[in-house]
Amino acid sequence: MYPAQAHIIKTFNKLIELLPASDRAKPQIILIPGAITPFRNDTDRELSFRQESNFYYLSGCAVPSSYLLLTFQHGTSLAEQPLTQLFIPKVELADLMWSVAPPSAEEATKLYQMTRVQYLGELSSAIKEQMKAYPGATFHILPAGSPLFPILPAQYTALVLPPHAPATDDYLLPALHRARLTKDADEIEAIRQANAISSRAHEVVMRVLGQGVRGAIKAGNGAGVDRPFLPNEWLIEKEAEAEALFVASCRREGSVHQAYLPIVAASTRASTLHYCCNDREFAWGPVGPHDHQNGDCLAHGEGRQLNPQVLLIDAGCEWDCYASDITRTMPVGNGGKFTPEARAIYELVLEMQRLSMDALKPGVHWDAIQLLCHRTLVRGFQRLGIFKTPSSPGSGSWNAEEAIVASGVSTAFFPHGVGHSLGLDVHDVPSASKPERNETVGKGVELGHESFYAYLRLRLPLEEGMVVTVEPGIYFSPHLLAPVRDSKHIDYEVLKRYESVGGVRIEDAVVITKDGYENLTTVRSDTDWIEGVCSGLL
Ligand code: GLY
Ligand code: MN
Ligand code: MN
Repeated sequence: MYPAQAHIIKTFNKLIELLPASDRAKPQIILIPGAITPFRNDTDRELSFRQESNFYYLSGCAVPSSYLLLTFQHGTSLAEQPLTQLFIPKVELADLMWSVAPPSAEEATKLYQMTRVQYLGELSSAIKEQMKAYPGATFHILPAGSPLFPILPAQYTALVLPPHAPATDDYLLPALHRARLTKDADEIEAIRQANAISSRAHEVVMRVLGQGVRGAIKAGNGAGVDRPFLPNEWLIEKEAEAEALFVASCRREGSVHQAYLPIVAASTRASTLHYCCNDREFAWGPVGPHDHQNGDCLAHGEGRQLNPQVLLIDAGCEWDCYASDITRTMPVGNGGKFTPEARAIYELVLEMQRLSMDALKPGVHWDAIQLLCHRTLVRGFQRLGIFKTPSSPGSGSWNAEEAIVASGVSTAFFPHGVGHSLGLDVHDVPSASKPERNETVGKGVELGHESFYAYLRLRLPLEEGMVVTVEPGIYFSPHLLAPVRDSKHIDYEVLKRYESVGGVRIEDAVVITKDGYENLTTVRSDTDWIEGVCSGLL
């Protein structure tokens, strides 16, 4: 059963730490609504429902339009055993006719770790009851008026907002984010499962690419003429085809949602970090407005050749509301092998990731991993000749590794953070991972150029139980390169050879353990394996 009770106690304890000392002994009550089912206008059909993350964290309940009322008092028996009340909608005949019924209150009592489950009609009187039983209680709500959270309807806010009773949105979200920053065993299992399913989906795409290279994907009689293509007759020659297979593979394994919309970018489009179109063909660039529909033709049959290029897929599904986040970059065209330039960049990103992972353990500051990646990039670019090197050891300091790192020029090639916290949300618990007042930054940790940290979403020492992504990348984006076109550190003749690579990112999700880390992402990324699979040889 989802460990809601432990999550509730952890959240209240974090909340108590945030309160002024004079308020800590008072009763504290959390009141939050779950998400409601969205409908698309004029369809009378639900859009896909996903529970609000904080509500799920405190309940494990994914029933739409539910409420939680949780009562806690530090130093009393309520600190060990908070009163936890869940309110769910009572099913109407019309609901049964059109859709699938939520559990009854009785059934829900067995499904969720709650003191009591009742129907929504009881919520107002339950709030009043708590106000009477705990007259000095403070009500905690999620940020009122924020589009990010379900809105507490006026009938309930009128009860708990001043002048009737004290209610505040100052503490609950920060407390939830702090509680959610480290994961327990059940949460890690859900993230592991999301990663396993997504890992297989990445491998499916690579294997189908490889089969295409071997000519093993053939259209049977009548395909595309008298009947549509079946899945085993699809070649992947468009971003949309790769996306469709990835999502289908997750869906057939029972995952309901993608944790974020897949990023499927071929060729130089891989330099756009959160590319969102996924609608271009691989080999021959921009297509007309209707070409993104899977056409009735097998491109190989027309004797067309795919240009050598990379395909970057950043995609991960959810399992029980917990996210995965995986990026693989694979070769397309060129017989399923990287070009020498793409291979060199791929191996450098892999090195950035390997060195980062080797350093992971509790106590290591994430800022240090970010700097390590920039150093590794600079060293690698000097090896490749993209960055200039001193002509002889010790000669000239302006182009030494340290000077290039200090200049910040590597940000043009690696503009984002090396990773972030992962959990119920993909960029999980932002207020806790990158606190506004952050005493940990710079404390005993060497800081690099300030541009390295602009998009770093985690700025803390690692702790056991954190789940983080490790996702270095190297990109050749014309927009990012424009401002450094006159950098004295870059050899432009050499750079020109690499620009068509577009971008490479490699992203795995790991859990920080007592003395290191465990990789939850199971799909391999070593160069030989990727090329072996994408060329159909493995
Ligand atoms: N999938 C978005 C990211 O990697 O941060
Ligand atoms: Mn990520
Ligand atoms: Mn990602």
